[in-house]
Amino acid sequence: MQKICVVGLGYIGLPTAAVFARAGFDIVGVDVNKQVVERLNKGEIIIEEVGLPEVVKEVVDAGKLRASLEPEAADVFIISVPTPIHEDCTANVEYVRSATKAVVPHLEKGNVIIVESTIPPRTMDDVVAPIIREAGFDPEKDVYLAHCPERVLPGRILIELVENTRIVGGLTKEATTKAADVYRQVVTGEVLETEAVTAEMSKLMENTFRDVNIALANELTKIAARLGVDAHKVIELANRHPRVNIHQPGPGVGGHCLAVDPYFIVEKAPEEALMIQLSRDINNSMPDFVIEQIIKLTAELKEPRIALFGLTYKGNIDDVRESPAIEIVEKVLANPRFDVRVHDPHVRNEQVPFPLSSFEEAITDANLIVILTDHNEFKALDPQALIAKMDTSVIFDTKNCSGLEQEAALTVHRIGDLTNLQAIHVNKPINN
Ligand SMILES: NC(=O)c1ccc[n+]([C@@H]2O[C@H](COP(=O)([O-])OP(=O)(O)OC[C@H]3O[C@@H](n4cnc5c(N)ncnc54)[C@H](O)[C@@H]3O)[C@@H](O)[C@H]2O)c1
Repeated sequence: MQKICVVGLGYIGLPTAAVFARAGFDIVGVDVNKQVVERLNKGEIIIEEVGLPEVVKEVVDAGKLRASLEPEAADVFIISVPTPIHEDCTANVEYVRSATKAVVPHLEKGNVIIVESTIPPRTMDDVVAPIIREAGFDPEKDVYLAHCPERVLPGRILIELVENTRIVGGLTKEATTKAADVYRQVVTGEVLETEAVTAEMSKLMENTFRDVNIALANELTKIAARLGVDAHKVIELANRHPRVNIHQPGPGVGGHCLAVDPYFIVEKAPEEALMIQLSRDINNSMPDFVIEQIIKLTAELKEPRIALFGLTYKGNIDDVRESPAIEIVEKVLANPRFDVRVHDPHVRNEQVPFPLSSFEEAITDANLIVILTDHNEFKALDPQALIAKMDTSVIFDTKNCSGLEQEAALTVHRIGDLTNLQAIHVNKPINN
């Protein structure tokens, strides 16, 4: 069985390593984070992903997966390190560069090197290949270089790693085939072959498509607020057209994919990527739109107690990267008029720079709950519990997920339907 060295053991690299290990490959997982390496060698993980703890324990116990701080010789190298953006929204490919450099001393002719990290167009040609060349290898003959972007959905990673269609783009045709054959040993979905730059661009356009469409829904929400229309109803009705699929509005777009990848295209073609840039701007404006509504809702309260529910960029995960909820929480916390409680059942205190509250603490005496993430826990809120504990039972649901209905004792505002939004002005009598 082939040996694979997976460099970067995060949300992508670790499940990838585990899936290949489960299929019988010998895997060495490499990470620069000592804690990740130490814990993994005990069969433990530090991220939340459905089913992953069990699979990792199984393959570590079976001796198929072990972790190390340094790469070592292998048949295949898979690089899955972060590709964030700099302050100026340009791509930071330094992690990819340093992971490639770390692999180079262990390379042998005939090895396959696959970059799974999401990368700007031409990164394989302009960043990765030159490092290989500098090390004395011909990147088009001696080794097989390919990009295989990842398109899994957090929460379903172990399923989608196996079942999704994969795109593999090599620097040469042979590299494409060699890399595609690696995936064909574990993937039940199709493995589509192309060249590197097309694979790079395809991945970026998948996320850009979604970002642009969410921006359209968010723009509709703002228009609807101005015109007194229910955007949720508009979307529901318009989507009954057989070829229309308007996305859902929300408090902004987060995660290190949708909120980041479009910039990789803007950076390379700023004069052409106008709609892509504008969509980023619209989605980036949503946290302030949410805060505007919070300010309107609480305008008549002296020291409103606000419970902010949810910090992650999507529901039922623990990932807070680029989350618009974090921006909203920080801005609300910075307003001295607000007495704020933050609650997220999926996030640990050490992940964020502010204290978290339990559900009970958060709702007790609250004037307003703002739902920022569609965790299952927030989809099933018990209205009676809220009415009993809150000071004024008002909900602002920015994900349109709560299932709570407007009733005499409970006011529910949804982000796309702000027509009846009024300042909260009545406090319940004490001891009620
Ligand atoms: N998470 C997702 O849902 C997802 C989906 C599609 C694509 N991607 C892409 O996959 C790539 C990895 O994302 P992620 O979510 O797994 O990131 P992550 O931050 O969860 O994990 C990356 C890991 O790489 C390690 N690392 C950094 N530099 C290293 C180096 N030089 N050598 C070894 N280890 C190093 C970090 O310590 C970390 O553990 C990114 O390019 C991302 O855009 C992620």
